[in-house]
Amino acid sequence: MNKSCLKKFEENLAYHFSEKLNYPFAMPHWIYISLSHRCTYNCQMCGVVKILQGYELPFKIVKDTFDTIAHWRWDCVITLTGGEPFLREDIFKIIEYGVKKKLKIEVISNGALINKGVAEKIIKSGLRNIAISLDGAREETHDHIREKGAFKKAVRALQYLSAAKKQFGRGPQISVWTTIMKENVAELFDIIELVRDIGVECLVYHPVIVAQDDMQNTSPDAPFWVRGDNIRVLKEQIDKIVDYRDKYGLVAFLHDPYLWIKYFENTLTKDDWKCNPFVFINIGPDGEIRSCGSSFGNIKDIGLDACLTTSLADVARAKMKQCTRPCLQTCWARPEADYLDEIVNTFIKDLNQELLPEERKRIVVREALMLLDKYEKLIKNRLSLS
Ligand SMILES: C[S@@+](CC[C@H](N)C(=O)[O-])C[C@H]1O[C@@H](n2cnc3c(N)ncnc32)[C@H](O)[C@@H]1O
Ligand code: SF4
Ligand code: SF4
Repeated sequence: MNKSCLKKFEENLAYHFSEKLNYPFAMPHWIYISLSHRCTYNCQMCGVVKILQGYELPFKIVKDTFDTIAHWRWDCVITLTGGEPFLREDIFKIIEYGVKKKLKIEVISNGALINKGVAEKIIKSGLRNIAISLDGAREETHDHIREKGAFKKAVRALQYLSAAKKQFGRGPQISVWTTIMKENVAELFDIIELVRDIGVECLVYHPVIVAQDDMQNTSPDAPFWVRGDNIRVLKEQIDKIVDYRDKYGLVAFLHDPYLWIKYFENTLTKDDWKCNPFVFINIGPDGEIRSCGSSFGNIKDIGLDACLTTSLADVARAKMKQCTRPCLQTCWARPEADYLDEIVNTFIKDLNQELLPEERKRIVVREALMLLDKYEKLIKNRLSLS
C-alpha cells in the first residue's frame, strides 16, 4: 500500500525543518548497522575492513537499538552490513528479532557464505531485501577486485536465493549492488543481462568513494576513479541502462544516474545534490554513530535516542551541511523535502490522486494545516520566540 499523502507530507516537513533548524524533528530513514568489520575478503576498494577490527556489536545492543527504532513508529529501513554480515553466528537471531519488532530489515552481503541451506533460511526469515554485491559482469573483473572464486560464489548465492524464493513462493526482494569503478565501467550494462537471467529483482548502482572516513574526498588521482576516456564509456553505459530501465524496470536509481558523470568529473555541486544529514545514520561495530566520518556518540554508552541529540551530532550535521563535494552515497537525500513550496505542491498532487470522498479530503487538508501549525510552534520554541 502506498504511503498516505498526509504521512508523506508529515515526513517531508520533519526532514525539511530538521535540516533548516539543525534539530532532529525527523528520525533517520536509512539506518546502517555494521555488525562487525570481519570479512571473508579484502576487496581492493573497501576501506571498511581496514578499520575497527576486533569489534562486534553485541546482540544485546542490537536488540536495544531495534526496540528504540520500533518505538519511533517512523518509516525506517535498517541495513545490516559490515564486513560480511553472514560471518556473525547470531545473524538469524538478529534478523528474527528485528522482524518480530515489525522493522524493515535488509542485509548486504558478498554471497560467499550463502549456500543452499543459508539461502532457504534467508528466504524464510522475514527480511525485506537481500542484496548481493557484484562488481562486474565478467568473472575476471569481479575476482580481480575481490578475490579469486568470489564471482562464482556471488552468482551461486543469487541462484540459491532465487530457487528458494520460487520454492517457497514468497521472500525478500533479491537485489544486486554494484559499485561503479574504472575497472567495471565498460560492463555496467552487461550486469543487467547477467542478473536478470538469474531471477534478480532489483539492481542498484552507486559510484565508488575514495575513502569511507573522508567521503568528500573526490580526488581524481584515486585508484578506481573513472576518468579520461572512461567518462565517455560511462555516458554510453548510462544511456543503455536508462533505456533498459524505461522499458523493463529492474534497475532502481537512487538519484539521476547522469550525476555519476559530474561526480567523476568533479563538477558535482550542492545545486545538483544536497545531502540531508537527518535522513541516514551509520552505526559502527564499536557502537559509535558516524555520519560522513564525524561521530554523534556511542549507543553502547547512551543509547540511540540520546545519540541523535548530542552536541557532537549537531556539530557533525552542521559540518555535513557545508559539504562542497557531494558523494552520492549513504546520504540518499530527500530532494522532495528541500523546499516548502515543493512539499506543499507534492501534497496537493498526491491528495488529488487519492480516491477519497470530498469530505475526507477536507479533513486531510485540515490535518495538514494543523501540521504546519505544529511546526510554527516548534520553530518559535527553538528560536525562543513567543
Ligand atoms: C562494505 S560492503 C559490506 C557488505 C558485504 N561485505 C558486501 O561486500 O556486500 C557494502 C557495500 O559497499 C560497497 N563498497 C565497498 N567499498 C566501497 C567504496 N570504496 N565505495 C563505494 N562502495 C563501496 C561494496 O561493494 C558493497 O556493495
Ligand atoms: S566483501 Fe564487502 S566488506 Fe568485505 S572487503 Fe569486500 S566490500 Fe569490504
Ligand atoms: S553528500 Fe553528505 S554524506 Fe556525502 S560527502 Fe557530502 S555531507 Fe558527506
